[in-house]
Amino acid sequence: MLRARCEVRQTTGLKEPELAARLGDVDALVVRSETKVTAAILDAAKSLQVVGRAGVGVDNIDVPAATARGVYVVNAPLGNIVAAAEHTVALTLALLRRVVDADRSVRAGEWTRSKFIGRELRGKTLGLVGVGRVGGEVARRAIGFGMTVIAHDPFATEASARAAGARLVELDELLRTADVISLHVPLTEKTRGLVDGAALAKLKPTAVIVNASRGEVVDLDALAAALEKGSIAGAALDVFATEPLPADAAIRRAPRTVLTPHIAGSTAEAQTNVAVDVVEQILDVSRRSSSTIGPRSSHSRTRDRSWSSTPSRFAPPRSRGSSRRSASSA
Ligand SMILES: NC(=O)c1ccc[n+]([C@@H]2O[C@H](COP(=O)([O-])OP(=O)(O)OC[C@H]3O[C@@H](n4cnc5c(N)ncnc54)[C@H](O)[C@@H]3O)[C@@H](O)[C@H]2O)c1
Repeated sequence: MLRARCEVRQTTGLKEPELAARLGDVDALVVRSETKVTAAILDAAKSLQVVGRAGVGVDNIDVPAATARGVYVVNAPLGNIVAAAEHTVALTLALLRRVVDADRSVRAGEWTRSKFIGRELRGKTLGLVGVGRVGGEVARRAIGFGMTVIAHDPFATEASARAAGARLVELDELLRTADVISLHVPLTEKTRGLVDGAALAKLKPTAVIVNASRGEVVDLDALAAALEKGSIAGAALDVFATEPLPADAAIRRAPRTVLTPHIAGSTAEAQTNVAVDVVEQILDVSRRSSSTIGPRSSHSRTRDRSWSSTPSRFAPPRSRGSSRRSASSA
């Protein structure tokens, strides 16, 4: 899509100074999750009009710095929702059916079926902390497994929760009654450390916790301690406050855990969806701004764009005096 309209340069694995050195004449920058778009990067990219994050959220982009420089910031909040929801279900099933331990055991030459008696989802209660886009998709899938779904979400309405098949409850009730607790909140000052030692102490000893939202939501040391003590039954985590997860992190050694390296949103389908979403928005920006990145797009796909749903994230365009047409992805 972009190549038809402008020159595209692709780079991976560059350190900040190397990346900055290549951005002097680019009009648009597309990043996934690893590249940090800092004030220094923005200063180096003198012609930049728009930064696109091919993924959910803009944690790795210094949005205030972009705003101050008149650079639009766009992301793709919808493309990997199904991927994230399906991975949440995969983690839950892997935990309850002990898929990873059973696989290791067979590879080690064992055939000990009695060691791997699992537990079913049917008839259990799923407690969703956050019933937005991903949480809603998880709820719909959980109902297919015969689960009852409760949710805590201070910003959801009864009607929106009901549409996903969930009943809204207070956090305390959710923590005390759910069999599977699954986190689907953004990282905010309210959600940072939401699942700490005190919250974990409220869980039933048979409960398991799944986190494919943001690592900082869970106090990992408190979680590792609860697992060691046996006060909860298991945990499956896709996200960590520090990524990559440090080699000495206690959670690596904790029992009854399944850990994945932030791959919930990573499917072939989602990669395509988010890339297409971001490119469409970059072309929109080019159409709206005075200096164009390329000729008018003929695309007619319509989607719920992040820039219309969260306009406060976007900076007004300011002319940066460029007539060059190039886009870079890192
Ligand atoms: N692991 C991955 O690869 C991956 C992939 C996609 C999304 N995510 C993450 O999953 C999370 C959910 O994404 P989403 O698209 O569903 O976001 P969303 O904005 O659609 O939903 C988040 C929900 O959390 C609710 N919420 C906010 N503060 C809350 C609080 N204090 N307590 C309870 N609920 C609260 C909001 O009202 C909202 O309904 C985000 O953190 C996102 O970054 C991770």
